[in-house]
Amino acid sequence: MNGMKSSAIRELLKLTERPEIISFAGGLPAPELFPIDAMMRVSADVLENDGKAALQYTTTEGFLPLRRFIANRMKVQHVETCEQEILITSGSQQGLDFAGRVFLDEGDVVVCERPSYLGAINAFRAYQCQFKDVPMDDDGMRMDLLEETLKTTERVKFIYAIPDFQNPTGRTMSVERRRTLVELARKYNVLILEDNPYGELRFEGEILPAIKHFDTEGRVIYLGTMSKTFCPGLRIGWVSASPDVVNRFTIAKQGADLQSSTIAQRQAAKFVENYNLDDHVQRIISVYRKRRDLMLSGMEKEFPKGIEFTRPQGGLFTWVTLPRGFNAEKILERALEQKVAFVPGASFFACGGNENTFRMNYSNMSEERIVEGVKRLGHVLRTL
Ligand SMILES: Cc1ncc(COP(=O)(O)O)c(C=O)c1O
Repeated sequence: MNGMKSSAIRELLKLTERPEIISFAGGLPAPELFPIDAMMRVSADVLENDGKAALQYTTTEGFLPLRRFIANRMKVQHVETCEQEILITSGSQQGLDFAGRVFLDEGDVVVCERPSYLGAINAFRAYQCQFKDVPMDDDGMRMDLLEETLKTTERVKFIYAIPDFQNPTGRTMSVERRRTLVELARKYNVLILEDNPYGELRFEGEILPAIKHFDTEGRVIYLGTMSKTFCPGLRIGWVSASPDVVNRFTIAKQGADLQSSTIAQRQAAKFVENYNLDDHVQRIISVYRKRRDLMLSGMEKEFPKGIEFTRPQGGLFTWVTLPRGFNAEKILERALEQKVAFVPGASFFACGGNENTFRMNYSNMSEERIVEGVKRLGHVLRTL
């Protein structure tokens, strides 16, 4: 525990929970899109028709019809798999923890993107690993620099990547780089941990093939979740991997919590049986696309020159880079005085630095609040 810090995002979220704050800090979905009426019917149906089973223990691997649905759904990401290769987890966050538990010994190295998802960095850090982070450009992790790292670093266990609309940058790894990534992993004999909560939330163009699509030898462990395409409260995530890896993760899960909630799994399975998940995802996309457009056009108008930001084609976040020498944490203090919040970027860097960056979320605030919040933030930045 000595090496671990409390997550900066969690601490911040406490601050930004106050209703008067326009918060671009969290990564929460829009709650008004949760299918509450449908879930009331689904929950009643589950309890009326399968009540005893729904309140009973289930298998560690998870509720079979849900595993089957997920295995089939992976086709959207161009991945062919079957239910034996799916383990239900309590959110993909649990899959991150299990990856650490199964693969990392003290001193092992995790290669990740620079920057990367703070929740993953913290999950791995608990297993006393070290990090090597690889710079990104607009096409994701730089493969030339990745190869350099793999060539010169011993004890690399896996490469952790978030290929679509990455948290925190909103960037997407190009298809070409996905292919190269798998080739490099083979060449240097390491695994890939692909974490993809956002791939289906694509506002323009076609959904890209997952990194796992290019894997022919069970080298890629894919983590999925219903948190962003359905709702995070049910805590339904999954691991899609070779039967051998799924078996190891299942043993890890037996030690952690025996199984994910039986009733939540049955509710999710019943929802996707009775309702069309694609229609639901399309509704989310059309709302988030509008919010992204408003945020980006607001930032173009209100932010002073010299500030850069990404233009994500999906997902929940854009990433802002200030000129060198600016400190986003200090700016946050000023922004909070104007009742607007974001997440300073430094904590997303496994190897430190980069205080001149911050992350903005556009999924959770209404259109009016996005316009107003960006205006206030622009004012703070211009003043500075
Ligand atoms: C990249 C990434 N991975 C994993 C998670 C964890 O999500 P969950 O445990 O709700 O599936 C998140 C949540 O924001 C995330 O952004």
